[in-house]
Amino acid sequence: HGTSKVNDQGHLEIGGVDATQLVAEYGTPLYVFDEALVRQRCREFVDAFRASGLKFQVAYASKAFCVMAMCRIVEEEGMSLDVVSDGELYTALQAGFPAERIHFHGNNKTVDEIEMAIDAQIGCFVVDNFIELQLLNAIAGDKRQKVKVLLRITPGVEAHTHEFISTGQTDSKFGFDLGNGSAMRAIKEAASLSNLDVLGVHSHIGSQIFEVEGFRIAAEKVAGFAVQVRKETGIIFPVINLGGGFGIRYVEGHTPLPVAVYVEAITEAIKENFGNNDYPLPEIWVEPGRSIVGDAGTTLYTVGTTKDIPGVRKYVAVDGGMTDNPRPALYEAEYEAMLANRATEQSEEVVSIAGKCCESGDMLIWDLNLPKVSVGDILAVSCTGAYNYAMASNYNRIRRPGVVFVKDGQSDLVVKRESFDNIIGNDLIPARMKQVS
Ligand code: LLP
Repeated sequence: HGTSKVNDQGHLEIGGVDATQLVAEYGTPLYVFDEALVRQRCREFVDAFRASGLKFQVAYASKAFCVMAMCRIVEEEGMSLDVVSDGELYTALQAGFPAERIHFHGNNKTVDEIEMAIDAQIGCFVVDNFIELQLLNAIAGDKRQKVKVLLRITPGVEAHTHEFISTGQTDSKFGFDLGNGSAMRAIKEAASLSNLDVLGVHSHIGSQIFEVEGFRIAAEKVAGFAVQVRKETGIIFPVINLGGGFGIRYVEGHTPLPVAVYVEAITEAIKENFGNNDYPLPEIWVEPGRSIVGDAGTTLYTVGTTKDIPGVRKYVAVDGGMTDNPRPALYEAEYEAMLANRATEQSEEVVSIAGKCCESGDMLIWDLNLPKVSVGDILAVSCTGAYNYAMASNYNRIRRPGVVFVKDGQSDLVVKRESFDNIIGNDLIPARMKQVS
């Protein structure tokens, strides 16, 4: 997919660059992003919304992969950016991302984070709870600023891949419940706070969703709520945010729909539900993360040791693992992989890919068909663009890999591989201990 192909040497090539060349230049493990594919996904969202005729904002959920070069791409593609911490906000601002296009999320924003975001004059806060409403209003007042807010509501729809459950009330740490009246109380309270400007409501129903049905139901519930709010308070929402969660294909059996199909379902549902209630059509915002970067990322590893347990399993260990991709260990997430240096060879054995961390749970892929693997082979694991670098750790004091963007035969390092100095850079030895010279 994307610009990936097998070249004349029988090697995997991404963005016109031979994977073995990337390995020679940057080492392994290495995250490689197909920049053209990232931009294509951005455009699929933007174009589909444009076709709907509705006003919209597509805000990339930066939690999926937040580095300065990525913020540049999002900016160049004319999108907005959603952040959930001061770290993501800092990254975006340092990358020169326009503050007015930044939305700040999170269920426990600190005073420092709120101050930093107000000082930067970001576009919108997505307020999660009653304490934050008061805190935000107070801080905005101190700074003599009026801040735009969306209130996050929990619509009682939970969607995950093929299932979605309509619960009415949700046991979730996020948002104001629609079912028990908190959402209505929150709107009334927000409207009474003089330093807040209520733009509308936000709802996010889950992640890695394949069906459109969950989004339709969420749109319906949100519209129902908007109508109720108008009836009780006269307030009309100019903005509705339906969150992210659009699924991608990691392995066979995953059947996401094209981006345009999700967008069309959402825009149609908005038109229908608001239109039927004679409600001014709101601007519609979404927050895709995974579907923007997920399938554009590939992680390259070097194969090291193997352990063959006859009749049981063959373990093949690579030079990374749960430190660069914790998703299999955390969520039993599945991935596909191939040998990048022998991409045309037939599969000959079934192996399981282990990481190098000191724990049994550090497995990347179970039961993978590969040609006969040997030391030094390059393993390319696909679809690692979302929540991999973002969730990487220094467990076992392993240095985080570098990140490279490839496009049109060119590669650019966008995050350097961590150094040993990075590893010990924040360590201090108390003065009462013997110092190292
Ligand atoms: N908006 C909100 C409010 C969210 O909570 C999320 C994701 C998104 C947007 C973006 O969702 P996406 O389009 O990426 O599905 N670490 C997990 C995923 C956690 C998602 C959390 N929220 C994983 O690796 O699967």
